[in-house]
Amino acid sequence: MTTPEPTTTRDAWATRAGFILAAVGSAVGLGNMWRFSYVAAEGGGAAFVILYVVFVTFIGVPLMTSEFIVGRLSQESPVVAVRRLGGSGWAPLGWLFVVCGFGILSYYSVIAGWTMRYAVDAVRNAIAIDTEAYFGSVSTGWPAIFTHLAFMAMTVGIVVAGVKRGLERTALILMPLLFLMLLCLAGWAATLSGSGAGYGYYLKPQLGELVDPDIIVLAAGQAFFSLSLGMGALMTYASYLRSRENLGREAGTVAAADFGVAFVAGLVVFPIVFHFGLGETIGLGGAISDNTVGTLFMALPTGLHSLGGLGNVVISAFFIMLFVAAITSAISLLEVVVAAVIDGWRWTRTKATIVFGTLIAIGGLPSAFSIDFLVAADKFVGNFLLIVGGFFTSLLVGYRLLPQADAELADGLDSVAARRTWAYLVRYLAPVVLLIVMILMVPVVWDAIKPVIGLTG
Ligand code: PFF
Repeated sequence: MTTPEPTTTRDAWATRAGFILAAVGSAVGLGNMWRFSYVAAEGGGAAFVILYVVFVTFIGVPLMTSEFIVGRLSQESPVVAVRRLGGSGWAPLGWLFVVCGFGILSYYSVIAGWTMRYAVDAVRNAIAIDTEAYFGSVSTGWPAIFTHLAFMAMTVGIVVAGVKRGLERTALILMPLLFLMLLCLAGWAATLSGSGAGYGYYLKPQLGELVDPDIIVLAAGQAFFSLSLGMGALMTYASYLRSRENLGREAGTVAAADFGVAFVAGLVVFPIVFHFGLGETIGLGGAISDNTVGTLFMALPTGLHSLGGLGNVVISAFFIMLFVAAITSAISLLEVVVAAVIDGWRWTRTKATIVFGTLIAIGGLPSAFSIDFLVAADKFVGNFLLIVGGFFTSLLVGYRLLPQADAELADGLDSVAARRTWAYLVRYLAPVVLLIVMILMVPVVWDAIKPVIGLTG
């Protein structure tokens, strides 16, 4: 597998597996475990999970296919691609992608810093039994700043040193291991008393909730975040594709892998939450609190502490693998920003990476000081702006580029019926649904921003 560099001589993936692996590496990250469990806890469990699957299938996969199409068609970084294919009026969409990459990475790195801290402290046997207090002590303030800066330094270092290739190889081994470990943990969680109640919460929906606007909004936002959609990240990776891959099938593969990891993570977290009576602590199904955001970070150690010394080893291994998953996602976030700067200002890759990596690290400081700020950034950039990006991408592909896009998709996907279905979903379903989601999301985002600007406590 080669690791393409978006410079003047464009590289290409040597194999289909190389591309899929990078795309899965971007999609699978903190979103699948940290975010999925916290949002499932916030959103009432099963109804959220079902709506999430619906979004991934009917909006996520077609839109991911669209991003792949634009990438492969243009062979350019997203900012250049949307301007060149759509016309100068579409340039702001490219800038929006960059804003999303910058904004998401700034707080993503704070959470990735928590995973580093947990991995190290678990082997030192330093994660307190009172995991709520422990999470509180490491998730904000100086400890969080320190680990956030360390994570950003590593991400920048990896991109500058060009050791991405080695990292991708490592990820190739660690990701299946992480999944295997999750499966084992899910098997163990199934043996806990109370697991039935956990599954009930996670898997048995209350029908009324399926039409609850708050839950619909959470599910849509989570689908975009987890699939790395709406900000050109996967477009960037697809721009290094030359071969005649079936882009629809590739999108389906990435989405299925992404969903598999998140789903099994839920099978671990919720039985633990019910067995150890953590529901109240994390505010299950109620108003979001700092603890809700820490669902994964409290549930997992609480469960594994009960296994004694072995538990510490497992916690550490789990967070090391989660850290690797986070780094492969962080690289794709940074890549969107760096590629835009290289193309737009003709900076060298090293300069663009160091300067913007530093700015993003500074941009993450408020999130390291305040979980309220982190949540507000997550709702605004990680949910709302990604949906806005997805909405405009569907318009660009569905209305401005349809014949070209269809021809590009046909290169690898013969079935006319499948392409028609894709075009229908991108032209009609995605824009209408995403517009509604955007409108419904405004009050949710506003509620998250209010405490940050001091409007409520
Ligand atoms: N999909 C990543 C995750 O689930 O952790 C986060 C992410 C990466 C979002 C890249 C957006 C993106 F462009």
